[in-house]
Amino acid sequence: MSKPTIKHKKSERINTGESTNALIHSAHVATNDEVFPMILDLFVPTSSKVADVTYGKGVFWKKVNKEDYDLFFSDIKTKGLPEGCVPGIDSTSLPYEDESFDALVFDPPYMHTPGGTAHNGHQNFEQYYANNGNGQSVNREKGKDSTELPKYHEAVLDLYYRSALEAYRVLKKNGIYIVKCQDEVCSNKQRLTHLEITIELQNYGFITEDLFVVVRKNKPGVSRMKKQYHARKNHSYFMIYRKL
Ligand SMILES: C[S@@+](CC[C@H](N)C(=O)[O-])C[C@H]1O[C@@H](n2cnc3c(N)ncnc32)[C@H](O)[C@@H]1O
Repeated sequence: MSKPTIKHKKSERINTGESTNALIHSAHVATNDEVFPMILDLFVPTSSKVADVTYGKGVFWKKVNKEDYDLFFSDIKTKGLPEGCVPGIDSTSLPYEDESFDALVFDPPYMHTPGGTAHNGHQNFEQYYANNGNGQSVNREKGKDSTELPKYHEAVLDLYYRSALEAYRVLKKNGIYIVKCQDEVCSNKQRLTHLEITIELQNYGFITEDLFVVVRKNKPGVSRMKKQYHARKNHSYFMIYRKL
């Protein structure tokens, strides 16, 4: 019996270009400074004008050739910042002109613990949220919740939202917004911060370009507990948005 002839479908793949497995992947057991340069390689061409508005210790930039970009570093802290980082700049009110940056980096504290027990066992980030006392919040601007400032997870989201509105203002059209975040369990509720932010930012005119998962190399500390109800988070995200 003669063998049936198998008709292959025409490949829609482009035949030009070299095959390679040296691709940039979406998930990494790595540190932030190892993943961040890959994001720049994919989304931020050299010579771009880039602001990191929560520079902190500048860890993200440790493995980046800083000469390759036109960089502006700032942080709300007024002391203890590395040289080259402008102190006392609030990410919700940047001293930059409209549509003046190609890319912006935002990595705020992931939790808010105003002296309470909602995040027992986690680092208290209250000091970084001291600026929430300025009476601003997205909810207030929308006319909701006018009596109270947000706390805990809502405070975290509020800073993401207000900073995103400001990022939208200073980014050029098609500008890239790189946002670091981590989901959290707050008051026994699972809060998928990366989804909440993504949904809100779509309302501001950002589209999602990519998502990177960073898995910790070491194990997070053990907190005292009787019974474990949720998986202890050992991963965080770099979200990549584009201003339309
Ligand atoms: C998780 S650390 C950032 C670490 C940084 N990406 C690095 O590589 O070292 C959070 C930083 O956000 C800053 N921060 C908190 N609220 C801020 C605000 N409203 N505006 C600007 N920076 C803020 C803190 O001072 C802190 O340095």
